[in-house]
Amino acid sequence: MSNDKQKTDLSWLNLPSLNNTIKSLFSGYLLAVGLGAILASAQILTTHGMADGKLGLSVDDIVYSYHGDPANSKIETKLNGSMRDKASEADKLEIIKWVRAGAPKNQWQTKIKDIFYSNCISCHSVIPGLPDFTRYENVKKVATTNKGASTTTLTRISHIHIFAISFIFFFNGLIFSLAVKIKTWLKITIIFMPFLFLIIDVFSWWLTKMSPNFAWLTILSGVGYSLCSAITWFVSLYQMWILPRTGKSFAINAWAE
Ligand code: HEC
Repeated sequence: MSNDKQKTDLSWLNLPSLNNTIKSLFSGYLLAVGLGAILASAQILTTHGMADGKLGLSVDDIVYSYHGDPANSKIETKLNGSMRDKASEADKLEIIKWVRAGAPKNQWQTKIKDIFYSNCISCHSVIPGLPDFTRYENVKKVATTNKGASTTTLTRISHIHIFAISFIFFFNGLIFSLAVKIKTWLKITIIFMPFLFLIIDVFSWWLTKMSPNFAWLTILSGVGYSLCSAITWFVSLYQMWILPRTGKSFAINAWAE
């Protein structure tokens, strides 16, 4: 069936043998994307990384960012701690129930205000430096809980993340597909896995929002695609600029391997 004369010669189609024009296009892209990856890591470390108050990314950070910590408002912590003896059990329970319900203003007017007036404001309105609990706004501030990422936020960042990162992986993979001296199964794995990890990553945010037990999936997928991307990045640049183009040894069509 196939006619040898019609076959195009694609023996130049591999990273070491590309001409400088296309090498500069690929390299410019890789350098810019590499810088982007470093900046993204820095951003993740300073936002998510600090979510639990400690430097460095941990499972706790992921839990705080996506699941939140719904039972831990400042006021609830205090009512179980240094303010433990400032109100009766019944009054403390009322306050905690109200705080967990989001500290709604209408209930403040009808009953919660009275509990604060009879138990708390003897200090929390006169002692300088303490929040003045005669005002709803000040109570609200210590009553806020961390609810994690909202559904709207997650929906927005999920699709942006998938679309944007897919493009980066696509071009990384396309360039890396022209590498030589790498077993085809390995090449396919390194090209395909980042997309799989990307999907797992986004799923893991939603799962972690529902249950803190899934936070490790976010870390696993992040490490997974970072590793694959790093390999494609280094191998591609190495093969284009350092691996010598020794005569005919790379006269192969990388896509036909
Ligand atoms: C006898 C005085 C006194 C009473 C009554 C009192 N508190 Fe306090 N409260 C303090 C002092 C002093 C501090 C600061 C030291 C600390 O955090 O333990 C404080 C701190 C707090 C804080 C932390 C404020 C911040 O911004 O760090 C909260 C929340 C709080 N109190 C809630 C309450 C509630 C709710 C009640 C009523 C059930 C109450 N307190 C009654 C004296 C009081």
